[in-house]
Amino acid sequence: MGGRVLCKMLVAALFMLFSAQNALVSCALSSELQEQINAINEQGPYIGLVMPNSFELDPLLSNSDYIASGYVLDVSGRRFRFGAIGDKPVILVMTGLSMINAGITTQLLLSLFNIEGVVHYGIAGNANEQLHIGDVAISHYWGHLGLWSWQRYGLGPENELPLEPNGDYTRKYGNLKFADYTSNVTADSSYDNLLNNIFYQPEEIFPIDGTPEQRQHAFWVQVDTTYYNTASRLKNMKLEKCLNSTKCLSHTPKLKFVSKGASASIYLDNAAYRGFIREQFEVTQVDMESASVALICRQQNVPFIVIRALSNLPGATSEDSNEADTFAPLAATNSVKVVVEFVKLLPSSLSSSKIKRLLRLLSVV
Ligand SMILES: *[C@@H]1O[C@H](CO)[C@@H](O)[C@H](O)[C@H]1NC(C)=O
Ligand SMILES: *[C@@H]1O[C@H](CO)[C@@H](O)[C@H](O)[C@H]1NC(C)=O
Repeated sequence: MGGRVLCKMLVAALFMLFSAQNALVSCALSSELQEQINAINEQGPYIGLVMPNSFELDPLLSNSDYIASGYVLDVSGRRFRFGAIGDKPVILVMTGLSMINAGITTQLLLSLFNIEGVVHYGIAGNANEQLHIGDVAISHYWGHLGLWSWQRYGLGPENELPLEPNGDYTRKYGNLKFADYTSNVTADSSYDNLLNNIFYQPEEIFPIDGTPEQRQHAFWVQVDTTYYNTASRLKNMKLEKCLNSTKCLSHTPKLKFVSKGASASIYLDNAAYRGFIREQFEVTQVDMESASVALICRQQNVPFIVIRALSNLPGATSEDSNEADTFAPLAATNSVKVVVEFVKLLPSSLSSSKIKRLLRLLSVV
């Protein structure tokens, strides 16, 4: 018997085992869980509120405008919390750190539940010196700046990248030349850097309304225009300035509308790189999740917006960093304030009596 046939038989046998013992496959949904999800979805649609960690979740849970149902559903290591803000039913979920976690969690949220839109929020680094700690920024576009083609030493922007003719990689979004950041150079010395150039790449995406397995590309993903315009009605809203009765920021934080935010699976604490992405890409917020949420929502054709409060200036002096650490909780609180007011402005699909019924249902599921 050939190895190939044996292999096929093994795979078939394995598959039969899986079908027979579905309940033992931990990452598949049990029929009981599927029934609960169906019951929840019949009461939707919901707004999905997605945040990276508990530091950003907790201020929402304790916000007086958030009505918790007390009901949670745990799936694939994530916890989905159900509640309402004003007359909008919401589902809260925390992603965990960085791009993969944010992508998985957002996809789970959209695959499992009846979601009409996603609001992603949290704190972020700031690359835009016109803004300040505690300000909340909403960008038109989000991009992932962690997908690169790293060029061989000796080649430059005039040279084609590997696989560029296939359409796999491109030079059109620009490059970072390491030698430009050489320090301690004197006027008469020559310098170079073996790290050469990196070229920023768009993501391959597979939109729900495209042909499966036929890639498209996306670099800057635009937030939903209706959500953006709705949020702009909040531009004069009052944000917190003080941590407590004695500790206050020197300026009054504001809600700002800016051009772009960027994410990567990189914790940025370097002033030179911060300056580079500001100049090259007009970036304001720098974080590790938002572009991932944006890319999933783009592919699933679900409206989304990102609301990130600025908590620090990457690579700033240690004095500034201490200041940033002190006020990070204030930034988290301010992002939640904007989220709550934003959700309240969204048109409601449910009457308040239906909301009450929903919350009752969720407290007994
Ligand atoms: C090298 O340059 C950096 C940044 O400008 C400076 O802080 C440092 O003192 C310089 N070091 C030497 C050895 O000149
Ligand atoms: C206010 O917050 C600062 C910084 O966390 C802290 O040092 C100070 O003790 C607090 N003051 C009061 C009155 O709680």
